This record gives sequence, structure tokens and C-alpha cells, in this order.
Amino acid sequence: MDDKFNTAAGWVLFAGIIALGFSILSGKYFHADKPERPETLGYVIEGVELVTDGGAPEMSFEQAMNMMPVDEQIAAGERIFNRCASCHTVEQGGADGIGPNLYAVMGAGIGNHVPGFAYSSALQGKGGNWDWDAMNEWLKNPRGFADGTTMSFAGLNKIEDRAAVAIYLNSYGSNLAIPEYVEALAEEAAEDQAEAAEVSEELAEDAAPVE
Ligand code: HEC
Repeated sequence: MDDKFNTAAGWVLFAGIIALGFSILSGKYFHADKPERPETLGYVIEGVELVTDGGAPEMSFEQAMNMMPVDEQIAAGERIFNRCASCHTVEQGGADGIGPNLYAVMGAGIGNHVPGFAYSSALQGKGGNWDWDAMNEWLKNPRGFADGTTMSFAGLNKIEDRAAVAIYLNSYGSNLAIPEYVEALAEEAAEDQAEAAEVSEELAEDAAPVE
């Protein structure tokens, strides 16, 4: 190996060491007790499920019930109820059809809120009351909820539709409280936002030009 090459390689090595030392020093100096810059900027709102391509996770029934103000939910529910109206009435004192009158069904006993209606033993034997979760499960898949039910209705696929129609039913003679969801989420988001603002302030300080 000739001398020129060795000398050149020596200088390169030397320069590298100087640069390394300098970057270590400047790192220590400029970043002393400053938070590390996060690898990905931005923040995640907890409680919100990300929609991905591989099958979107379904939102919760609480979330679906809080997607719109109550009066809009009722209006949407009324439209959806057209699919039920061939078998059900909902007004107080409305006649039973193929299915029982549904006035005040929310909160009532499952499969027995209209005395004298010929319920299936599957639904009658179910037990419990029509709370939000039960109504959600029932309207999603009546046969899955009560195997042997005489309600020949395939079910409502969209959780938003089930929420709207449940709120619509609730507005006729029942008055179950609608579980809050948006408020809790908004609070959490506000907290996260305050935290993010703090971090970006620190980052701005960090990024200030250094003489
Ligand atoms: C083809 C007729 C038919 C359609 C359409 C139908 N239902 Fe029913 N529904 C019935 C019958 C019959 C029963 C009684 C089921 C049993 O006893 O197993 C019933 C029962 C119910 C009950 C339980 C009532 C109680 O007293 O416990 C609810 C709630 C209900 N239906 C809601 C709906 C909603 C909401 C829709 C529309 C999204 C709908 N149904 C569509 C026929 C129907």
C-alpha cells in the first residue's frame, strides 16, 4: 500500500472522528434536559378505532347513538321504521299486526310487553328487558337473539340504523336515557390536544436557531 493512500485514509479517519465527537458534544449541549423529538409527530385520540382496509371495526352502540342529535336520530329512525311498519304499529293504542304494537317497548319485558299477543316461546322465554344492548342484538339478527322467533325479518346490518330505530322506538312512550359517548370522547380529545400543544411548544424551543 502506498504512502499517499495511507495519508489520505488517515485524514478521512481523522475527519470522521472529529465530526463524531462534535455531533456527540453538540447533541449533549443542545438537547440537555429537552425531551426527545418523537418519531411520529401528532397524537392519537384514545377510544377512537381506526378504520382500516382489513374490515372496519364496528363502532360501539353508544357511539352510534351519539352520531347525530336525538331529533335527527328520531327522524332517521322513522324512515327505517318503514321496513317494520308492515308488521308493527308504534303509536299508543295502535293495533297489533303480524307483530305486536311497539308503543313503550323500550325498557319493557322482552317478549311480553303486549299482553295477549301470541309471542313465540323463544322470545317469551328470553327474559330480561329491552335495554339498548338487547335491542341492538335483536335488530341485528332476530334469529340469533331468539332462535325460533316468529319475526321473519333478516335484521338491520348497519349499527347506525339500529341505533336510530331504537331511539325512535324510545321516543314513543319510553324514555330510557341515551348513554353519553361524545362528551366523554371530547374531553379526552381536549386533554390530548393540550398535551400535544405542550410538546410542540417544547419542540419549537428545541428547534430555535442556536448561535
Ligand atoms: C314480517 C313481520 C315483521 C317485520 C318486518 C318486523 N317485525 Fe318485529 N316482530 C314481528 C313478530 C311476529 C314479533 C314477535 C316475535 C316472537 O314472538 O318471536 C316481533 C317482535 C318484535 C319486537 C319485540 C316486541 C316485544 O313485545 O317484546 C320488537 C322490539 C320488534 N319486533 C321490532 C321490530 C323492528 C324495529 C322492525 C324493523 C326494523 C321489525 N320488528 C320488523 C314481526 C315483524
